[in-house]
Amino acid sequence: MSSYTLTQLLTDKSSLDKSRIVHSEQDTHVAEGEVLLKIQRCAITTNNITYAAFGDSMQYWQFFPTGIQGWGHMPVWGFADVVASAAEGVDIGERFYGYFPIASHIRMQAERVSKRGFYDASEHRKPLVSAYNQYTRCSADPVYAEKLENYQMLVRPLFITSFMLADFLQDNAFFGAQRLVISSASSKTAYGTAFCLKDYPQVELVALTSVRNRSFVEGLGCYHQTVCYEELAQQPTDKPTMYVDFSGDVDLRARIHHHYGDALVYDCFAGSAQNTDVPSDADLPGPKPAFYFAPIQIRKRNADWGPDLVNQRFNAAQSSFISHISDPGHLWMKVVEEDGFSAAQTLIRNLHDGKVDAQQGRVIRLDSLA
Ligand SMILES: NC(=O)c1ccc[n+]([C@@H]2O[C@H](COP(=O)([O-])OP(=O)(O)OC[C@H]3O[C@@H](n4cnc5c(N)ncnc54)[C@H](OP(=O)(O)O)[C@@H]3O)[C@@H](O)[C@H]2O)c1
Repeated sequence: MSSYTLTQLLTDKSSLDKSRIVHSEQDTHVAEGEVLLKIQRCAITTNNITYAAFGDSMQYWQFFPTGIQGWGHMPVWGFADVVASAAEGVDIGERFYGYFPIASHIRMQAERVSKRGFYDASEHRKPLVSAYNQYTRCSADPVYAEKLENYQMLVRPLFITSFMLADFLQDNAFFGAQRLVISSASSKTAYGTAFCLKDYPQVELVALTSVRNRSFVEGLGCYHQTVCYEELAQQPTDKPTMYVDFSGDVDLRARIHHHYGDALVYDCFAGSAQNTDVPSDADLPGPKPAFYFAPIQIRKRNADWGPDLVNQRFNAAQSSFISHISDPGHLWMKVVEEDGFSAAQTLIRNLHDGKVDAQQGRVIRLDSLA
């Protein structure tokens, strides 16, 4: 009976910048319906740190249980190849895109197998959000291109949020706002949102960012104005304003509510790039922060438009975004590839501490020997 070495990067749930790498010998045998995939590469951005930060409250730890008390698998998006299969319609050598642990291999129970891919129907994943249980067969994916794999991993999971957030906002007539103030505006998800909103000139997009990222954000060319966090008090309050929060910074939120006062018509809580604590219900003037979760708008549009049209529209928007950002003439984004689990450890620590250059898209190859 053949075996393989399973390598896993485990994250300390109580201290997300701490991780350890473990190895174990595993049997390659697959039971009926099972597939064994070797994870080749993944992207890691601040969003993955947020998955871990909300690992308990939003069940992200439950996708890939480690069986070790206090230690979890931080989920990432990436590509993997089938190395053993006892599932009809899933063949050895096929490549899939989807949601993975930071590990060398993963075993899944393939169900709802179709030309497009399959769902992992392992018992522990059945109650979880199904969008994360879906694996896309690269050979049947109309937007897949081998040379764009890095962009796909980096952009797709974030851009679906950007695309659906822009759609959610215009679907609700921007809640009456004429100005959107967007925090952590240098993040990939914020930029994608601003890119999708370029066709709505009736709303003014104000980027809020840190001093170190100011010129980078200005260079993106998709915000009407770029303002540093320290300059908030000088901002006009003459128009109905929405706060689109990717930072999750509690103090900043309080400053926004007090500064804009009655002009603040909606507070859209979309991310926590700067704060890995679970948000508290602070007693603030103005609208209560409303949590935005992309899968809810996806569900709504699947019902409104049908899943095929949702996919078509998303693919068209994503292709336009990827061709924009992969054009060397544009400032964003520089892909940096590294090898191995130790590189992933360092990257996670740096992302956690906010030390990664906003212009970089970071990719880890997990199939190397490093
Ligand atoms: N609600 C949803 O469904 C959903 C889905 C996807 C992503 N998101 C959220 O979108 C946010 C951005 O994710 P991303 O992957 O696009 O990020 P990214 O590109 O890695 O973002 C980098 C930027 O985030 C800010 N930042 C990150 N870590 C920081 C730290 N420790 N201290 C201070 N600033 C820090 C900085 O922006 P500034 O200098 O501009 O502040 C930094 O340039 C995350 O909070 C993520 O949870 C939400």
